[in-house]
Amino acid sequence: MSKIQNPLIVALDVPTAAQAREIFDELSETGCAFKIGMQLFTHAGSQFVGELVKAGAKIFLDLKFHDIPNTVANAGVEAARLGVWMFNVHAFGGREMMERTVAAVRETAVRENLIQPKIIAVTVLTSSKAETLREVGVDNDPLTQVLKLAQLAAISGLDGVVASPQEASAIKIEAKNWKTENHAPNDFLIVTPGIRFESETQNPKSKIERDDQKRTLSPAQAIKAGADYLVVGRPILQAANKQKAADEILAEIISPTEYD
Ligand code: C5P
Repeated sequence: MSKIQNPLIVALDVPTAAQAREIFDELSETGCAFKIGMQLFTHAGSQFVGELVKAGAKIFLDLKFHDIPNTVANAGVEAARLGVWMFNVHAFGGREMMERTVAAVRETAVRENLIQPKIIAVTVLTSSKAETLREVGVDNDPLTQVLKLAQLAAISGLDGVVASPQEASAIKIEAKNWKTENHAPNDFLIVTPGIRFESETQNPKSKIERDDQKRTLSPAQAIKAGADYLVVGRPILQAANKQKAADEILAEIISPTEYD
């Protein structure tokens, strides 16, 4: 396997900075990244993001920007100034929105000597079914729409997409045909949530709620399907020993010595 990055992103899906700090302290040694989403961000704010970045955390800021091009580009610039490693936008915002965000972030990063964050796209939320798409005037089935938006993200210069395990393999295959200026086809990143230990998925009494993750894969299966990064929340957050759970996920994929 040629992957050299540590592929684990732990979702800090907790309501307070104190709880998030505790998780970071427990897991920072593993070299994983951390995802801060709307709940924690709305509660603890950008100061807290800055605090973790200063402490050495790789942060995926999961705020799913979707607005007019100028507003998203400016928000992206602020994410870069905060020092996050990755942030995301909705591909449904369109090509101009994505292109202007990539350009503004790149230009600011060069001018202000910042590390350029990876910018990835949300295509169709996994909570959306064909019926949800029809309600908002989209007649494509979800997978067709996912592929259409993933291609749009790629040609707009984004670094990758968030995709369910089932979508990951289809995107990996299709991405080989997408001509982009910024990437070799194999570099288009796939960030995959919906990860569960095989033992959990087979245990009907599992304490980990997974009803809202209808389609799950084990870490190894997701990597095999084409995922470059795995977003994991409850399987780690609800474990008695979080570090052990994170280590088990890494060990399931590849020997930890192969990660940087
Ligand atoms: O606890 P669990 O492992 O299900 O957490 C998955 C994380 O990934 C959550 O933060 C959730 O918001 C996020 N996510 C997801 N499905 C998507 C996009 C993001 O579960 N399609």
